Amino acid sequence: MQEEILKWKKERDAVILAHYYAPLEVQEQADYIGDSFYLSRVAAGLSCRTIVFAGVRFMGESAKLLNPSKTVLLPEPGADCPMAHMVSREEIEEVRRTFPDVTVVCYINSTAEVKSWCDVSVTSANAVKIVRKLPGHNILFVPDQNLGRFVAQQVPEKNVMLVKGFCPVHHFIKAEEVQMLKRLHPEAEVLAHPECGIEVLSLADYIGSTSGIIDYASASPKQQFIIVTESGVRWMLEKRNPGKCFYFPEREPVCADMKKITLEKILHVLKTGENEVEDPGPEGVQAAKTLERMLELAR
Ligand code: 13P
Ligand code: SF4
Repeated sequence: MQEEILKWKKERDAVILAHYYAPLEVQEQADYIGDSFYLSRVAAGLSCRTIVFAGVRFMGESAKLLNPSKTVLLPEPGADCPMAHMVSREEIEEVRRTFPDVTVVCYINSTAEVKSWCDVSVTSANAVKIVRKLPGHNILFVPDQNLGRFVAQQVPEKNVMLVKGFCPVHHFIKAEEVQMLKRLHPEAEVLAHPECGIEVLSLADYIGSTSGIIDYASASPKQQFIIVTESGVRWMLEKRNPGKCFYFPEREPVCADMKKITLEKILHVLKTGENEVEDPGPEGVQAAKTLERMLELAR
């Protein structure tokens, strides 16, 4: 399988990008592994002809928006992020009517269509920094209420308005599960993703993106960590930190959509060229602008 993938990658002049939540064997086979921000920066700078995106649909769409002339292939077109759809045009327009000066900030976990209604994209790694830098006072943050609330707390000088979107994987992790882990491992630091609910975040010693969590654990002198994010990060945490212990909630948080991606599906799209992300056409122009603005402001 690995040899076949290598052969077809050469044939198509392709690179494989994988998110930390992709299955372990997929991460092992990737040319670049990272969080959403890192992968969008990588995608924007690639010189190859083809990108195989081992992630959910909005990630492949973002790579295409940043590289309209490249072929972007999705190993599993049904791998979609439910949160990416959790805001409507009407909700955004209503706030625009009430606050004509509002800046609409969309989490990158949104469809290309949602991005086209917004002003700037952010990821969990740069949301605080970018919102702080925006010139306007009124901000509408869509679709993730949890990341949005975290940003609002970190940037109290802005009026941050929220909608009701959420990540089903992080939102339903219970504070009691984290409290139980804290009782079992009192020495451990709690590292949580900002897509978690407010009660879980209030228990965290560090809140950050998947890369942020991995970097924090790698730099910390502590030996034990309670990790409150999707369990796909375990592989990189253990690879970079042999000997350190990582504890996850008992009901391990798993993103079923990310886990739909397999090596067989990667090989299939490399061989056939199927499941190409379509050129979004004129609608994509504003969506691409939100991503370009993010890359600019995150610099
Ligand atoms: P990051 O990649 O920004 O850590 O976000 C996690 C996530 O949920 C991606 O879908
Ligand atoms: Fe979407 Fe949550 Fe899965 Fe990330 S972990 S892709 S936010 S459902």
